[in-house]
Amino acid sequence: MSDEATALAMPRIGDPAPAFTAVTTQGPINFPADYAGKWVILFSHPADFTPVCTSEFMTFATMQDEFRAYNTELVGLSVDGLYSHIAWLRTIKEKIKFRDMENVEVTFPLIEDITMEVARKYGMIMPGEASTKAVRAVFFIDPKGIIRTIIYYPLSIGRNFDELLRVVKALQTADAFDVALPADWRPGERVIVPTAGSCGTAKERMDGLVEGVECVDWFFCTRPITVEEVESAIRAAKATV
Ligand code: BEZ
Repeated sequence: MSDEATALAMPRIGDPAPAFTAVTTQGPINFPADYAGKWVILFSHPADFTPVCTSEFMTFATMQDEFRAYNTELVGLSVDGLYSHIAWLRTIKEKIKFRDMENVEVTFPLIEDITMEVARKYGMIMPGEASTKAVRAVFFIDPKGIIRTIIYYPLSIGRNFDELLRVVKALQTADAFDVALPADWRPGERVIVPTAGSCGTAKERMDGLVEGVECVDWFFCTRPITVEEVESAIRAAKATV
């Protein structure tokens, strides 16, 4: 690989989250070690004092408790410096109203990355889009420090926060119940039973002999999991880490 290709290498789903130490608006961070036992959303934004990023930060901060209910912490990053971050977050709190949000305090850490060291490590710099700014990357990292989902958005489009929260719930549900989740799945909807192993043979399932399991074909079987079951499994997983 060329030096440039190495510099732009991207971690992938299933890889350990690259480790780094950095300065943040909440003090120093040792990542991902500081978050052992928790899920983390590590996300980048292109620049402080820009409108789309401002709308996203207000939304992240407003939803912080909802993410925490799923044992998930937020960590932001841009290639701006600490004093820019502090001034921008103060401006957000003191001056910005967006939709029904105002007086919004951002209490999760925002990493300063003026050298772009962390952004490069995580493949957040995409030169075709911008070589001096991070794109809107979102890394979902599990309690063992493994990257489980990556979503990228370009500079011009703000993230879909319903989807970010849905991914957190879906990852935790998939882990807790050893199932897969169909298109647009939401808690309370039927889940996909793995084809092999845990839940009867293919024939037993097709013959309707496995309670709750319904098959539309041998490879496509579903079962119900209620919202309450999802919530209680997630609470149990949170208690054991
Ligand atoms: C924004 O957050 O508004 C933004 C940042 C960089 C490029 C375009 C938009």
